[in-house]
Amino acid sequence: SQNIYILGIESSCDDTAASVIHNGKILSNVVASQKIHEDYGGIVPELASRAHQQNIVPVVHEALKVANISKDQLHAIAFTSGPGLMGSLLVGTSFAKSLAFGLNIPLINVNHMKAHILAHFIEEDGFIKPPFPFLALTISGGHTQIVTVKNHFDMTVIGETIDDAVGEAFDKSGKILGLGYPAGPEIDKRAKLGNPKAFKFTKPKVDGLNFSFSGLKTAILYFVQRETKANPKFVEENINDICASIQYTIKGILIDKLKLASKETGINHIAIGGGVSANSGIRQALKDGERKFGWKTYIPKFEFTTDNAAMIAIVGYLKYLEGYFAEQNITASARLKI
Ligand code: KG4
Ligand code: ZN
Repeated sequence: SQNIYILGIESSCDDTAASVIHNGKILSNVVASQKIHEDYGGIVPELASRAHQQNIVPVVHEALKVANISKDQLHAIAFTSGPGLMGSLLVGTSFAKSLAFGLNIPLINVNHMKAHILAHFIEEDGFIKPPFPFLALTISGGHTQIVTVKNHFDMTVIGETIDDAVGEAFDKSGKILGLGYPAGPEIDKRAKLGNPKAFKFTKPKVDGLNFSFSGLKTAILYFVQRETKANPKFVEENINDICASIQYTIKGILIDKLKLASKETGINHIAIGGGVSANSGIRQALKDGERKFGWKTYIPKFEFTTDNAAMIAIVGYLKYLEGYFAEQNITASARLKI
């Protein structure tokens, strides 16, 4: 039968990644993360695109090497065309175009947000693919969306953040507490040692299925300022309880909206993706939802939930099967929609 090899390239934010997929199975999944941004407490776009330029050739080389194939065996090149940082996207886009042109094989443009969702269709032992239609919750440092997925190529955003992404809520709260960047994993770790009900932060009032997280960070800032005035060591002495309370609040916001989305659509299959889906509290809450709300939940392998190129490669494969190819004049689009 078919023997399709596709190279996926991802460069939308601060990770330069390449992956080779053989039919539906991942042969390699290489990511070069950019440590440089840690010194700045956030992503610096200009530094990101420069690092992509340095990383892209070695990362692609490594992906082919690990997969143990030569570039002449590739059937198509898939790349992230958006959304993301323009300078970062352009590095992957121009590289992918040149490579496809040079090899005289099809070029396939991939929407990064759709890829986070379609990562669930990577062939992996022990992982069950969500059946259509399902709801996808995509949560990361750059995105927060609830999407109805009718098939591989038919998706509708039914809710999204009107300001900060969930990951930003974690990272900005962590910054206020003096934790390093990104703070999400650190908050998660400390939350396990703290009391989630020690402090109460009000949930934002946002209509329908949309989210808002900017008010939470302000509430935490005022809370910390007030308490520190009374006790300069407040944060230090209560860090685990503060982290547990923040995580509890964020988890509650997400679960409330998912409950509403499930109720409104009548869909109880829920798949999550994005870096924040690594959060142990959110994972547990989803699992609990199976018992409490009759959900069936799907969480991919960690390496496929953070920014990676395997998810770009799987979309490349699915589009290849349908003959959905891009022209050489395709451009990157920072604000590409689902
Ligand atoms: O998907 P990702 O690697 O990159 C994008 O932003 O697209 O997600 C990174 C985000 C950061 O905000 C980071 O703090 C958050 O995911 N994150 C977590 C955890 N692990 C990563 N947030 C909460 N708990 C975690 N365990
Ligand atoms: Zn992402």
